[in-house]
Amino acid sequence: MEKNYKMPNLKDASKRTDAISKIEDNLFSIPDFVKDIGVGRNFYLRTYGCQANERDGEVMLGIFEQLGYTRVFETQEADVILLNTCAIREGAEDKVFGELGSLKRLKRENPDLILGVCGCMAQEESVVKRILSTYQHVDLVFGTHNIHRLPHLLGQAILSKEKVIEVYSKEGEVIENLPSSRVGKHKAWVNIIYGCDKFCSYCIVPYTRGKERSRLMEDVMSEINEVLQAGYKEVTLLGQNVNAYGKDLENGTTFAKLLQAVADTGIPRVRFMTSHPWDFGEEMIEVIANNSNVMPFFHLPVQSGNDAILRMMGRRYTVESYKEIYDKLKAKIPNCSFTTDIIVGFPNESEEQFQQTLDLYEYCKFDLAYTFIYSPRKGTPAARFEDNISDEVKSERLQRLNKIVTKYALENNEKYLNKTVKVLVDGPSKKNPHVYSGYSETNKLVNFTPIKAKVGDIVEVLITETKSYSLNGTEK
Ligand code: 5AD
Ligand code: SF4
Repeated sequence: MEKNYKMPNLKDASKRTDAISKIEDNLFSIPDFVKDIGVGRNFYLRTYGCQANERDGEVMLGIFEQLGYTRVFETQEADVILLNTCAIREGAEDKVFGELGSLKRLKRENPDLILGVCGCMAQEESVVKRILSTYQHVDLVFGTHNIHRLPHLLGQAILSKEKVIEVYSKEGEVIENLPSSRVGKHKAWVNIIYGCDKFCSYCIVPYTRGKERSRLMEDVMSEINEVLQAGYKEVTLLGQNVNAYGKDLENGTTFAKLLQAVADTGIPRVRFMTSHPWDFGEEMIEVIANNSNVMPFFHLPVQSGNDAILRMMGRRYTVESYKEIYDKLKAKIPNCSFTTDIIVGFPNESEEQFQQTLDLYEYCKFDLAYTFIYSPRKGTPAARFEDNISDEVKSERLQRLNKIVTKYALENNEKYLNKTVKVLVDGPSKKNPHVYSGYSETNKLVNFTPIKAKVGDIVEVLITETKSYSLNGTEK
């Protein structure tokens, strides 16, 4: 292996110290040798995975724009192709490897094409090794900790015509003053905390995204004020675990305080993603209950309805304590909606234990659940357990679970029939330009016949028909 490659390393990625997170204001720059390198050239960016990755994608868009590039949506038209990848399950990785395989032809036809891989997969040692051995047409690999280095690394790849691999495996700092180009025009994502220290036994994220690092409240607030000034109607505060916000800062800031400050700006809608049931505090519930612009919608991943499995997953809560939070939220915030994530087929999960997940589902009657078959991730503690549930049993459990998911999705939506909901208008729906779509306060997709509604308005819609995954209606 060439020695100037900076390879990821799992052992370093799993280290954590109590050090206060370092805020870096000055790491991003565009060096002279890449100024205007993209003028007259095209780039293609594809982002996989979660909102954190989407937000990183917006930062990369901003950087490409500063370099003079034009965005295209067909790989054949691109001078630079960048895949911003997700590592959460094997299936997510297979998609990227498939895409890399099919891009080989383009690279053969156009040797000047730069093909890059970044995001969570780039943080995995095994993935970068596989790229080096099997996908030799990849020119550039960088990770989640050094997006600010994109101008340097891209310039180096273009000018040297040599492969550039630079991935850091460290706790990471908080990097401010990055450019960004937001994809949404009335809904904005704002990072509040990076990384994850929970180390659930099945999960790759603590290794691919590093230590929990909070942004300073003043930096978050100045970004919120910027989007507010720019006319945005909704902001989603992002983090792998937003309730951990502030724990690594010195000044006693908490998520509840931040949420209150954001609500106080008067922005019409505030959301947050994702929270962990383990430290979902009382103070936080109060802020949500007391501020009408904090949307009554919770995504609280439960993963399993059995205590032994939860313990093996390292989730740090019990079914009982999850139900307690659920009950409290439902009592304090009437009409809120509630979604979750569930994994089936975790090592040793018995039929009885799986049944308890179904029982919990019956208790919570979630509005929706994102359901997954367990996928062992190399380097995580659970990958050392034998993956001993057969594919047939895993699929059969997933199907049984999904049946209940759809049943309650429909039942929950039926409650909206003949009710009026407030919808933030995204625009004409994909299928029919005469029908508009948007999301309700409880995060329901609403398709409706508009009267005066314009993109970005918040309008009242009378619901006339309910489906499992959407509501239909007419603007009032
Ligand atoms: N296998 C299956 N699902 C997983 N998730 C995270 N890691 C894995 C894995 N190894 C699911 C969890 C998480 C969601 C984002 O993805 O349910 O909440
Ligand atoms: Fe995928 Fe997790 Fe990385 Fe998001 S943080 S892109 S879900 S691996």
